[in-house]
Amino acid sequence: MALSAPRRAGNTRRLPLWRSSAALHAAMAVSGLVMILFLLAHAYGNYKVFAGRETFDGYSHFLLEMGEPIVQYSVVLWVIRIVLIVSVIVHIASATVLWKRMRRATGGRGSTRYRTTKNRRGVQRTYSSFTMRWGGVVIGLFVVYHLLHLSADNVIHPGGASTSPYERMTAGFSIWWVLASYTVALIALGLHLRHGFWSALASLGANTSPTRRRQFNVVASVLAGVITVGFLVPPFSIYFGGVGQ
Ligand code: HEM
Repeated sequence: MALSAPRRAGNTRRLPLWRSSAALHAAMAVSGLVMILFLLAHAYGNYKVFAGRETFDGYSHFLLEMGEPIVQYSVVLWVIRIVLIVSVIVHIASATVLWKRMRRATGGRGSTRYRTTKNRRGVQRTYSSFTMRWGGVVIGLFVVYHLLHLSADNVIHPGGASTSPYERMTAGFSIWWVLASYTVALIALGLHLRHGFWSALASLGANTSPTRRRQFNVVASVLAGVITVGFLVPPFSIYFGGVGQ
């Protein structure tokens, strides 16, 4: 797949990379895959809550000390944070530019493949356009809420404020609406990942045959399921299984 923008007719100069929709799709795919790696590691780390307060708080401390004494305190964690922030910006910026291009190309109507009388615009929303756009918004809002809750000085502290990550987590997930809000966000994340992972593989040129497409569908569903359920097991165990009480 060519990652540089096509040349204009009669012009030998290459356009900047960001003008190419293929390059923007590839940027979305790579930034999305980076975030998936983070999510897998994060979901795995959350299971330390089952080992008790000392282990979970120790793990949280280890994240800050990672790389010492080769690098200074919290440098590795900051490198990870910066990679994540850049990935989020690239992902959202590429999605926005591609969406605007699609709107311009269709005279502001979006896809007109499926006509319907069920909504104002007269065109059916596709499952993917809905989960990707609105799912993305829900995930963005969730991350802000989540960081204010379990990171960033515990600004939101349902169940009581604490300096211990273990206490923040066990106190928070003992409350039904905290569990419910995380469940809604994680279902949105799961749907977004299912379609997004599939699209990422297609954007990176791996979608080469109907068999491959079917295999990717299965892999994307499994990955989305593992991440969604994987994240939800500790909160549900705290609420229903009394972990931490
Ligand atoms: C049930 C689901 C989740 C639980 C229980 C959970 C738990 C936590 C905890 C306890 C922390 C603080 C770690 C510490 O202070 O050492 C944290 C940080 C964080 N979480 Fe989650 N998390 C969940 C889902 C997610 C999801 C779905 C995302 C992203 C979409 C996410 C993104 C983050 C980020 C970016 C941080 C900050 C890491 C840092 O820079 O220190 N989390 N999470």
